[in-house]
Amino acid sequence: ALERTFSIIKPDAVRRNLIGKIIAKFEEAGLRPIALKKIHMTRAQAEGFYAVHKERPFFGELVEQMIASPVVVQVLEGENAILKNREVMGATNPENAAEGTVRKEFALSIGENSVHGSDAPETAAEEIKFFFNDDELVG
Ligand code: CMP
Repeated sequence: ALERTFSIIKPDAVRRNLIGKIIAKFEEAGLRPIALKKIHMTRAQAEGFYAVHKERPFFGELVEQMIASPVVVQVLEGENAILKNREVMGATNPENAAEGTVRKEFALSIGENSVHGSDAPETAAEEIKFFFNDDELVG
């Protein structure tokens, strides 16, 4: 089915000028960016976005990394976009990521892992709404 998913190009990747190379991988996989913007997340945004992880030991470091410098937030549309995006990203820990994936090629560590992507339809809808209004989605 045609789906929409939410993607973040994280600070570590934006700092290393990898926006284009990462978007190219999404486009080559048939994912179409229908909304995108560069933002510098506030602490409140980062804490709210990652609230599901707030009891985890890495939460503080995660928030610090996400607000250290700008990110690119995107909505990607395509057939099975949620799973396809996860395949293009590769495993959360770059040590486990398959050849050719974004995280295998670009991630520095499990925390500075270059991209975030929604893991399921419900979270995709919530995450898109967290950063975009409906009139910003240009499908
Ligand atoms: P992301 O998809 O953005 O969702 C939560 C993030 O927490 C994850 O990618 C990682 O970058 C980060 N993180 C840091 N340490 C860990 C860990 N031990 N397990 C899972 N995620 C971690």
